[in-house]
Amino acid sequence: MPQPASGDSPWWHGAVLYQLYVRSWRDTDNDGYGDLRGVIEQLDHLSWLGVDGVWLSPTMPSPDADWGYDVSDYTGVHPELGTLDDLDDLIAAAVSRNLRVLLDLVPNHTSSAHPWFVDACVGQDSAHRDYYVWADPAPDGGPPNNWLDATGQPAWRWDSRTGQFYLHNFLDSQPDLNWWEPRVHEEFRRILAFWFDRGVAGFRIDVAHGLYKDAQLRDNPAAPGDSPLVGRFGLAPVYSANRPEAHAVFRDWRQIAERSAPPRLLLGETWVGDFDRLAAFYGADDELQLAFNFPFVFAGFSAPELSAVVARTLARLPAGSCPIWTASNHDVGRFATRWCGDDDRKIRLALLVLATLPGTTVLYYGDEIGMADVDVPPELQRDRMSMDGGRPDGNRDRARTPMQWNASPGAGFAAAGATPWLPVGPSADRNVADQRQDPGSVLSFCRSLIALRRAELGGAIASWQQLPTPPDQWAYRVGELVVLTNFADRDAEPPVAVGEILLRTGAAASAGSAPVLGPWEGIVARSGGATGAGST
Ligand code: NOJ
Repeated sequence: MPQPASGDSPWWHGAVLYQLYVRSWRDTDNDGYGDLRGVIEQLDHLSWLGVDGVWLSPTMPSPDADWGYDVSDYTGVHPELGTLDDLDDLIAAAVSRNLRVLLDLVPNHTSSAHPWFVDACVGQDSAHRDYYVWADPAPDGGPPNNWLDATGQPAWRWDSRTGQFYLHNFLDSQPDLNWWEPRVHEEFRRILAFWFDRGVAGFRIDVAHGLYKDAQLRDNPAAPGDSPLVGRFGLAPVYSANRPEAHAVFRDWRQIAERSAPPRLLLGETWVGDFDRLAAFYGADDELQLAFNFPFVFAGFSAPELSAVVARTLARLPAGSCPIWTASNHDVGRFATRWCGDDDRKIRLALLVLATLPGTTVLYYGDEIGMADVDVPPELQRDRMSMDGGRPDGNRDRARTPMQWNASPGAGFAAAGATPWLPVGPSADRNVADQRQDPGSVLSFCRSLIALRRAELGGAIASWQQLPTPPDQWAYRVGELVVLTNFADRDAEPPVAVGEILLRTGAAASAGSAPVLGPWEGIVARSGGATGAGST
């Protein structure tokens, strides 16, 4: 069980972060794409909701083969989203509301349009050649090894001009950087400093598990199963990612982050299925301060599965570290669909769990209103990665559709007449304006939950303790409070006695009523006296 950091905890311990997909948030210039001015315009929604910080999806210039995850300039702003001045204004507007701003940093690969890669392709002795991973053909003239990219195709592209293959673990327009090259380290140190100087509170680090590749470029072994966490397309990414050398990069960046005043946050996209590997990204409290937990994302929505992931995570994380939980994002889709089948009871229960687990939690834009995945017809799809190949996690456009601000036909995303870049989902019930008026809505519930978390839980890392329950229930003690949940279609007796009920997901129940747990209901209560049914 991780212990609290000594002294004052950093702001992100116990924080609620909000992943904001800028292109889909609010379009102020009527071009169909959300923009930075739109984020500024709607920041009050986030202060009202009570979150502590936002992670902006990629904001840097990019040809958008992978919607910003193919960067062509690491110190600029994508013209479609705004200008550097807009970003400065956004940071200032956020700070004035006590909100921190994290940017998305993509150090595993660049766009093929990045000047480094353009130069690297001029010749084998060009200045930036070694910024990328180049290799000669295999003896049969084919790709150097068996690595596959994210679409299931060979991860190597032949460059006829210079007579070698280059590596791309994602699209062929996203060449992988070569982290064995010291100048790449220098470049990213400068990039970190550039943004920290502008007041960015930290970074979400894309493909943090992937930076280094095996120096000998050995073949990946067959995957023991087929799952996004174990291996894709029949191969386990043992040599094409997950190399131990990446830890030195994070130790270096951690020093840069901590030299800044105030210290900055490094939050890794650590796509690993093994808890020891996950824990390793925290180092000895000298690497990433937060590392995304994908076993939790991919767990089934059941008490045994979720509780097992949480217990195993807490058992492995090093002392002083802070777990982080999320259930939706722009790659894996929305929990309202994946976990909850659009069932309001389950959506509230999922939010309650996310908000009461120990550590930091991340909501994805729209989670707070229970936004569901949207079926985007093939002719309107924009995610090239899933169109090009069989990504196991399916088409990702489904979770990138415009934020639903109101019930109007365009959901308030853009001015009337603009065609949004992705179709707007059904917003009749699931929209901010209507849900704000309704004290029984998912949004009102989510806001109360965040307020309760702030007032009573504060991250409660050390004091969190699972309680014994029957299989369909999950219960835990957090400080002076107990959280009781029922993951079943029938009523359940609480496993422990409860005192005052502070919040319950069930809309019909009133405070003070008998604490039977309704189907798919969760309760946050003060600890009671005597032990109830089912406890041991
Ligand atoms: C992870 C990002 O979340 C995803 O959207 C992107 O396609 C890949 N990394 C490549 O950058």
